[in-house]
Amino acid sequence: MVIDQGNDKGGTVLVSKTVSPATKRSLQILKRRSNYAVSFDFDVEVMGDRLDLGVKGVVAVVVPVPHEVEKVAQLAQTIKEAAPTVLVCGCIDVPDQRLWLLAERSGFNLVSSDGAIGGALLRRLASADTGLREAIAVMETSETAGRLGLLGTFEIDGKSLAIWRSGGRLGCLENACTHSGAALSEGDVEEGVVTCPRHGSRFDICSGERVRGPADTDVAHYDIFDKDGRIWVVPS
Ligand code: FES
Repeated sequence: MVIDQGNDKGGTVLVSKTVSPATKRSLQILKRRSNYAVSFDFDVEVMGDRLDLGVKGVVAVVVPVPHEVEKVAQLAQTIKEAAPTVLVCGCIDVPDQRLWLLAERSGFNLVSSDGAIGGALLRRLASADTGLREAIAVMETSETAGRLGLLGTFEIDGKSLAIWRSGGRLGCLENACTHSGAALSEGDVEEGVVTCPRHGSRFDICSGERVRGPADTDVAHYDIFDKDGRIWVVPS
């Protein structure tokens, strides 16, 4: 395995107790070849007591992707609620492309086969400006009280983003249709799906998943959460 060198940012990677031996070996290599601390006794069941937005130093959480399809999104969401700014990493120990795609669309920031997670995570951490992802407050929660549909548009790192509340969910997508670039913020939204105003492609507001063409790829999505009276977005 090739591990990127030269990363000295440090921080802690929390690893679920239930990961496979191959995942453990892969992350041991990350531990030896970087300044990241790797803790192998993470228990998802007590996670709420151990992680919070205010806890410093946790850069990633690594868990096995459940084989039960209905549990995949639930697990990603549970971790994000406890720690919205850490990288949520899922390891897959079966050659199941459908499960892989589902995990990516359900909110896992990084999905890898179990023996490759160490290198994949180190590359991902090295590519970020800092090991810790910083959430950016984009509006006061009070501004959105009682509002449904488009909540607003804003720019992060030169990209236009749009946020919606629909179908009981908050979602943030890049504000450009992948078909030919129309502003999705000008489209209708219903039950958590936005319709492009130009040719009618439809996308899930949380995952960016293409629900209907003519666009043939998903739209980039961003983690978003409501906490301490503000709406926060995590640039990726
Ligand atoms: S630009 Fe969105 S469907 Fe064509």
